[in-house]
Amino acid sequence: MAYETINVDVQGYVSLITLNRPEALNALNSKLLGELSSALEAADENDKVRCVVITGSEKAFAAGADISEMSDKSFVDMMTEKFFTAESDRFNNTRKPIIAAVSGYALGGGCELAMMCDFIIAADNAKFGQPEINLGVIAGLGGTQRLTRYVGKAKSMEMHLTGRFMDAEEAERSGLVSRVVPAKKLKEEAMSAANKIAEKSMLATMAAKDCVNKAYEMSLEQGLAYERGQFYSLFATEDQKEGMAAFLEKREPQFRDR
Ligand code: HXC
Repeated sequence: MAYETINVDVQGYVSLITLNRPEALNALNSKLLGELSSALEAADENDKVRCVVITGSEKAFAAGADISEMSDKSFVDMMTEKFFTAESDRFNNTRKPIIAAVSGYALGGGCELAMMCDFIIAADNAKFGQPEINLGVIAGLGGTQRLTRYVGKAKSMEMHLTGRFMDAEEAERSGLVSRVVPAKKLKEEAMSAANKIAEKSMLATMAAKDCVNKAYEMSLEQGLAYERGQFYSLFATEDQKEGMAAFLEKREPQFRDR
């Protein structure tokens, strides 16, 4: 399928989605978010795709929601259009792992988009921020909730109230990103992580993703019970037998998602 604001390149088992509105630093307008939702849905439904990587340009992952598209909207417009709700739900409903590979600016909705992914690998030039406060609004795609869970109240509150940016080193130290790599190697590192994930049993990767995400939704007791149920259920799969047999036989496993 041809898109206007993103590029989708399925490389082996990985769908590499590149945000492509360079004239606006990949600002998220309805077109881009609609196309991104379609691409995610297509990746989730494509049996060959086992992991997704979302990236931007070297200068910007995404500089936020498109301010020129939002500026004239009224409260009624936002309510009736349910601004970006469906697109955000699409992320929550994608069962395959999604990696954000962030270079340059990830601001406002761009930072929130990265946080909707399962984990973030950052280039050493990455800058994260929730500068909506400078526009007279606040985050609206989960920033106040997800950033707080990632980096804690103090940093999240400061970023949302002052609009200050966090660089890659601070983002790693604070737990916002899994690791920092040189900008030139970002895509290679993200694809390598995605290919590593793609080698596993998808039944197990989907269960792991589901359980880690539940840690943000449930009490510890509920989460532990949920994880136990998922762990036990994987013993109903051929891939569990294969994975453990391969270890004991000192060979590589051949997972079949069965
Ligand atoms: C629309 C944007 C944009 C945005 C940049 N551009 N960010 N257009 N929406 N969010 C456009 C600029 O207008 C400019 O277009 C071009 O991209 C290049 O940007 P410059 O500002 O010239 O680049 P630079 O000086 O390098 O500054 C980079 C920047 C700055 C620091 C990232 O662009 C900036 O502060 N952008 C806005 C960041 C922001 O406030 N994001 C939060 C948005 S609200 P022209 O045509 O002039 O060349 C949000 C709410 C989410 O995200 C909730 C939704 C539900």
